Amino acid sequence: MLVRLIYASYSTTDLSKQDIKHILRSSQKNNGEKRISGVLFYSDRYFLQCLEGERHAVNETYLRISLDPRHAKCVLIEYRAVPSRLFPRWAMEHVSFFGGMDNELILKYSETGVFQPFQFTPHQANAFLAEVATISEQLGQALERSKPKLQLEMD
Ligand SMILES: Cc1cc2nc3c(=O)[nH]c(=O)nc-3n(C[C@H](O)[C@H](O)[C@H](O)COP(=O)(O)O)c2cc1C
Repeated sequence: MLVRLIYASYSTTDLSKQDIKHILRSSQKNNGEKRISGVLFYSDRYFLQCLEGERHAVNETYLRISLDPRHAKCVLIEYRAVPSRLFPRWAMEHVSFFGGMDNELILKYSETGVFQPFQFTPHQANAFLAEVATISEQLGQALERSKPKLQLEMD
């Protein structure tokens, strides 16, 4: 059974880009092996993460993540069976909020314009993630388009 789990948490220290890279590296390796896909947001010390994949794999991964001392106050926002994945291309990708597009997206789902995932309802979290998935899909297509095409050489 395919499930999607969304949780929010708060980092125990102010993490650097390098710290996030370390988290991502082990996430991508482990998740890839377990066919888990998803996305990790980090802003103002808040995390919002979406994990999707086979039920036991997602449960085991979430239990392991929740014990990680690099963050605390894990709040489960949603856990449910889903018909399909939002992020089939990503074993785990970090999305940060710097560009105008991202800030617009945060503003759309918050009263203050500040990323506060603890305030997200399950419905908001899903709508937010669905928009991120659409953007990531467009980004993927743009990257595909910018790849040089293979030239067929014929005599
Ligand atoms: C916010 C956060 C998100 C994480 N996400 C994942 C994840 O998606 N998958 C994963 O395997 N580990 C994730 N981790 C790391 C795990 O807590 C744990 O350190 C790691 O899985 C241990 O595996 P390793 O021994 O292969 O490094 C995350 C940690 C934090 C703090």
